Amino acid sequence: MSMNIAIDGPAGAGKSTIAKRLAKELGFIYVDTGAMYRAMAYYFLQHNIQGDDETAIAQACPDVDVTIAYENGEQQVLLNGSNVTAFLRTEEVGNMASATSVYPAVRTKLVELQRRLAERSDVVMDGRDIGTCVLPGAQVKVYLTASTATRAKRRYDELTQKGEACDLQKIEQDIIDRDDRDMHREISPLKQAADAVLVDSSELGIEEVVSEIRAICEKAKKERQA
Ligand code: DC
Repeated sequence: MSMNIAIDGPAGAGKSTIAKRLAKELGFIYVDTGAMYRAMAYYFLQHNIQGDDETAIAQACPDVDVTIAYENGEQQVLLNGSNVTAFLRTEEVGNMASATSVYPAVRTKLVELQRRLAERSDVVMDGRDIGTCVLPGAQVKVYLTASTATRAKRRYDELTQKGEACDLQKIEQDIIDRDDRDMHREISPLKQAADAVLVDSSELGIEEVVSEIRAICEKAKKERQA
């Protein structure tokens, strides 16, 4: 049976950085589920489909094929066969992903793909509903969070480093709106699974968070063997 580590939490909590590092250290596959929702959102944007038009989105879903591949250990997202990874990490695509991930047609498709990946490989999978819905039987579940101000500042620094002009207050407001949508949607809202361990990264560096989660994994491994 494969070993599954689920890391959920709000936008900007550091999930992907931590999950990627952890997967590398453990020799597991890293699965970034947010990138899959972003790929679908990118398709809707490219086809001028509005984020609030559920009918058009449901109609488009059968035409959208999202798959993932690995290049030098890095996840690549293929949208109808084309590698779109480089276009997914913009605010526009992130907001569209948050808006369109509320629809069952979108979620059903991606959850199926995520479960298949976790069945065949040891994975560290991050997202919003991994511990609660996608992999309820995951051996390790972590709910990784940080204060809104910390998350906004991290995002601001990331964009500034890339040379993108941005406004800290707007980023913080976007994060608040995104949290609100992700936590209050009807299907699979973001919430801490009852058996997940809460890790608050507001005052912690990457190494500290990774070692805290590794300790949680070690404990789970020992419990499994006992
Ligand atoms: O983690 P991220 O910012 O790349 O995710 C983008 C959006 O996708 C997020 O706001 C909500 C949605 N999402 C989801 O609904 N379920 C997941 N497992 C992952 C992401």
